[in-house]
Amino acid sequence: MGGKLNACVNAVDRHVEAGNGDRVAFHFVGEPGDRQDTTYAELHEKVQRAANALIALGVETGDRVAIYLPMIPESVVAMLACARLGAPHSVVFGGFSADALRTRIADGEAKVVITADGGFRKGKAATLKPAVDKAISGDTTVTNVLVVRRTESDVDMVEGRDLWWHEALEAVEPTHTPEYFDSEHPLFILYTSGTTGKPKGILHTTGGYLTQTAFTSKYVHDIHPEKDVYWCTADVGWVTGHSYVSYGPMALGATQVIYEGTPDSPHKGRWWEIVQDLGVTIFYTAPTAIRACMKWGRDIPDGYDLSSLRVLGSVGEPINPEAWVWYSEVVGHGKAPIVDTWWQTETGAVMISPMPGVTSTRPGSAQLAIPGIEVDVVDESGASVPDGSGGYLVVKEPWPAMLRGIWGDPERYVDTYWSRFEEFYFAGDGAKKDSDGNIWVLGRVDDVMNVSGHRLSTSEIESALVSHSSVAEAAVVGANDPMTGQAVCAFVILRGEAVAAGDQQGEELVTALRNHVADRIGPIAKPRQIMVVAELPKTRSGKIMRRLLRDVAEKRDVGDVTTLADSTVMDAISAEMKEN
Ligand code: WT7
Repeated sequence: MGGKLNACVNAVDRHVEAGNGDRVAFHFVGEPGDRQDTTYAELHEKVQRAANALIALGVETGDRVAIYLPMIPESVVAMLACARLGAPHSVVFGGFSADALRTRIADGEAKVVITADGGFRKGKAATLKPAVDKAISGDTTVTNVLVVRRTESDVDMVEGRDLWWHEALEAVEPTHTPEYFDSEHPLFILYTSGTTGKPKGILHTTGGYLTQTAFTSKYVHDIHPEKDVYWCTADVGWVTGHSYVSYGPMALGATQVIYEGTPDSPHKGRWWEIVQDLGVTIFYTAPTAIRACMKWGRDIPDGYDLSSLRVLGSVGEPINPEAWVWYSEVVGHGKAPIVDTWWQTETGAVMISPMPGVTSTRPGSAQLAIPGIEVDVVDESGASVPDGSGGYLVVKEPWPAMLRGIWGDPERYVDTYWSRFEEFYFAGDGAKKDSDGNIWVLGRVDDVMNVSGHRLSTSEIESALVSHSSVAEAAVVGANDPMTGQAVCAFVILRGEAVAAGDQQGEELVTALRNHVADRIGPIAKPRQIMVVAELPKTRSGKIMRRLLRDVAEKRDVGDVTTLADSTVMDAISAEMKEN
């Protein structure tokens, strides 16, 4: 009790003071091929300058700062500078739309936004600043915008509100004396999708979060900062990029790779080329990316020297045994253990995972809770299921990096996590235990989808669809997809007026609706498939039976329809499907 710390000092200053200022913190690789190394000593100056620049804009301890950046070193610098001031950051993934950014800025009441002119993606410069301008137009809590120069694209700078990051950092002192905060001081808010339309601002605090991210970076990823080159491919817009780029590895003083682009740009061997050139020893990515590489063929990774790799990690969704074996053999040459890490935005850090060199691995299973964590699989009544059975995944004791609440919505916090089982944290996942007690996570049991390891809410996409003038009603389901794990499939009923007025229809309408979802949320939420139907299957109480729609989307025979208010609805939908 009463312990105080500063997360930024732990991630940066401490390593410089220990004499490791010359160690590389980041090997940055830009998508166009530009390279930049930053040592801990250089990083130290950057975070101090960035903290001073935020102070100059009036940011005080407790104020929120929104960060909307590409995957560049400044993203980590910005996060750590906020942590240094005790100003919780709210990072919004650069792939989210202006609307999604607006909601998150407004909910967190951010004072400053840190963004960039853009970032490089698939060989092109994508813009970010126009989305910020749109997100803070009209009523806003934002007083200033800091703009990192990355792509040199033209940007409109609003006089008195917008400043260039490099100029703001130049204008201030290079040193900043840190303050130490209570271990329960808020470190960040990160929005994630839940079962209702509105994203939840997951709140994490400082001491416990840093303890568990550092502990797991050390014992699960097995980072030895003096010799390893670590690479987590996640963007800082997601929790993986928070815990396993900005905090855990930094708390250990690790050397890591930050790569701006996608695995296939400008060629499909890009990742393996980086592993070879920088001698990456620990690599952490998502199953969806591994499946994509598998599809491109083993010749591609076989063309590079991957012998430096000694630990491989997987996160974000269940890894199918085929992808696990391919990852192990083709990327790890059968000698690098795979850590399949189960955790969530809410848990803050890894909860279930093999420990490299300790656990004998099972392809497809995250296996056992790490030391100090109590997880279990329980039945409807909360009773632990025996080995060989399935049920709900729960956490039975508090853990250091546990979320401390939902920003501004304590009731939703209780409802979401603590009402399904009174005494356990309900994760929202289904799981089974094998005969040896290993845990196999099966996927979400609520209305949350997992597309390429990213969490999307069915009702959030439904809201986006019905906000289009042609749509009367919408139902969204996550259907199995061999590449992305799940894919968004939507069923929509058109408005009578829209049909009568001869508004866009057919293919054209479907394209318009897909783009509309991208505008409202972001391209990742674009439905793979949109089917226009006359009716949706509903129970007598009016609840949409998504289970039946999933049967249709996954091309199965439709299951039990006896609880439907009108049992002929599914016949009509199935018939329409067959016609298409
Ligand atoms: C959901 C959490 C954890 C950071 C990335 C996603 C699924 C995550 C695994 C895994 C099976 C997994 C779960 C979980 N999930 N890791 N190793 N095996 N499923 O964070 O967006 O908060 O999503 O991702 O369904 O509940 P998130």
